[in-house]
Amino acid sequence: MDRTMNDIWAIILAAGSGTRLAEATGGERKQYLEYKGVPLFWHCARAFSRVARVRGLVFVFPPEDAPAMDKKLRQFFKTEDLGVQWTVVAGGERRQDSVRNGLTGLPKSCGHVLVHDSARPFVSARLVRELVDALDSGARGAIPAVPVTDTVKRVADNRVAETLDRSELGAVQTPQGFETALLREAHDRALAEGWEVTDDASMVERLAEVAVVPGEAGNVKITVPEDLKRLEEARTTVPCTG
Ligand code: CTP
Ligand code: MG
Repeated sequence: MDRTMNDIWAIILAAGSGTRLAEATGGERKQYLEYKGVPLFWHCARAFSRVARVRGLVFVFPPEDAPAMDKKLRQFFKTEDLGVQWTVVAGGERRQDSVRNGLTGLPKSCGHVLVHDSARPFVSARLVRELVDALDSGARGAIPAVPVTDTVKRVADNRVAETLDRSELGAVQTPQGFETALLREAHDRALAEGWEVTDDASMVERLAEVAVVPGEAGNVKITVPEDLKRLEEARTTVPCTG
């Protein structure tokens, strides 16, 4: 790849409405929930900034919040200089629309992009580095997956339709990394052909091979009320002295 197009940026998605959590949070969007005193999206920003290859961050917020969040981020970056470039973009209706909008915030120099759900605040710099290494080694796409421990069945009309071979299954996480041009092409095709997907690899894998690296059990997505405990537990756990 052209060395002048070798920068890596991350898109941090924070434009969802958190419907499954709305009742438990009193309507507060989950990406704004605080853990250890700062919002979930800032934890993600910190993890990506710890990896030197990551040059910049595109934050994607709900359109109505974008100006206010831009201001808030200015303050965050003033008190805690993460040493990365950054910008704010307004999100869209579906996750894939928010990613598409996020792509518009990338500079021309961005050869590879990592897409991350801000609802996964425990993402580690180690995992980001793992994905960066895969891309730097020539993978056109790379995603983290953890082995599935439950037996998974396809269910239709409350009946078992099929039992899947667990040894072949992986539960997929973010960040997901891609050649920027490839991800753009995938999103163009998705728009033209009406693909509806829940992650970016689902688009890209129709066009190119996507590598899999080991995910992290701790890299959970805050999705349902039960998951809020993870933000509480981590805050209240004290070392056992007994
Ligand atoms: N997301 C986004 N834009 C959307 C929808 C989702 O940026 N239009 C982001 C969310 O902010 C989240 C990530 O995509 O960080 C994963 O989505 P999900 O867990 O489904 O979050 P929400 O869509 O906010 O929650 P829900 O589906 O319960 O409404
Ligand atoms: Mg959603």
